[in-house]
Amino acid sequence: RIVYVNGEWLPESEAKVSVFDRGFLFADAVYEVTAVIGGKLIDYAGHAARLKRSLGELGIASPVDADQLLDIHRQIVARNNLGEGLIYLQISRGPADRDFTFPKNPAPTIVLFTQPKAVLANPKVETGISVVTLPDQRWARRDIKTVQLLYPSMAKMEAMRQNADDAWLVEDGFITEASSANAHIVTAEGKLITRSLTSAILHGITRASVLDLARGAGVPVEERAFTLEEARQAAEAFITSASSFVMPVTRIDGEPVGNGKPGPVTQRLRASYIENRL
Ligand code: PDD
Repeated sequence: RIVYVNGEWLPESEAKVSVFDRGFLFADAVYEVTAVIGGKLIDYAGHAARLKRSLGELGIASPVDADQLLDIHRQIVARNNLGEGLIYLQISRGPADRDFTFPKNPAPTIVLFTQPKAVLANPKVETGISVVTLPDQRWARRDIKTVQLLYPSMAKMEAMRQNADDAWLVEDGFITEASSANAHIVTAEGKLITRSLTSAILHGITRASVLDLARGAGVPVEERAFTLEEARQAAEAFITSASSFVMPVTRIDGEPVGNGKPGPVTQRLRASYIENRL
């Protein structure tokens, strides 16, 4: 792979970041994951806008402007011949002698790499995924897309240990989101319920697109927190993310959701996302 590091294009074996980088020492960094299908960037504008917001919330100056960022994304696809997969981008505050206070003259580190992946032809689409619920023990600013991903990793490992595909995180009896995706349910009346945008969840780019498409298709949408109990009683459930698009959830804590098969609203929204955003 050819990766991008601070203005240079390098083979991955030659790409290096300082051991003093605050991304490494303090998780003082933000990231984005953008899907690529047929060499095309999916929902790019949303990811670029959220990156800007995350950087702003942490007071990290972007080392590249908007045009450069798009150019780097396009080049990394071309240089790696990426047909289908993901682009990972990370910007950290940069290297500094280890101290809890931020450095005075930071030089942010920017890294991009690609991951070839079958995003569309995911076999789980046919069966849906199983999730187990676990307490949400992440920090309280989940709206900032930081690389502080230890708890989500632990939650996903625990889900695997329980023979499930992913975790849905629960706080005060309400579902926040999945380990790396937004969580949604559909009621028996066909209403889509999804958590509203607060600092409790990441403001998913795929979520925003899917809600637009749902509203456009006349699916009633209610943005509010829903309980674990509501999720258990739901007719359908699904997650959204750049790496899964719209993925049905067919089991929660071992119990089937609805009839245990991917639901019609979920399937329609997946098809609609693929039709409209690819
Ligand atoms: N994760 N919620 C969390 C906690 C996430 O990490 C993600 C994305 C999402 C979905 O956001 P979007 O639709 O913008 O991808 C929601 C990426 C894919 C990852 O960490 O790999």
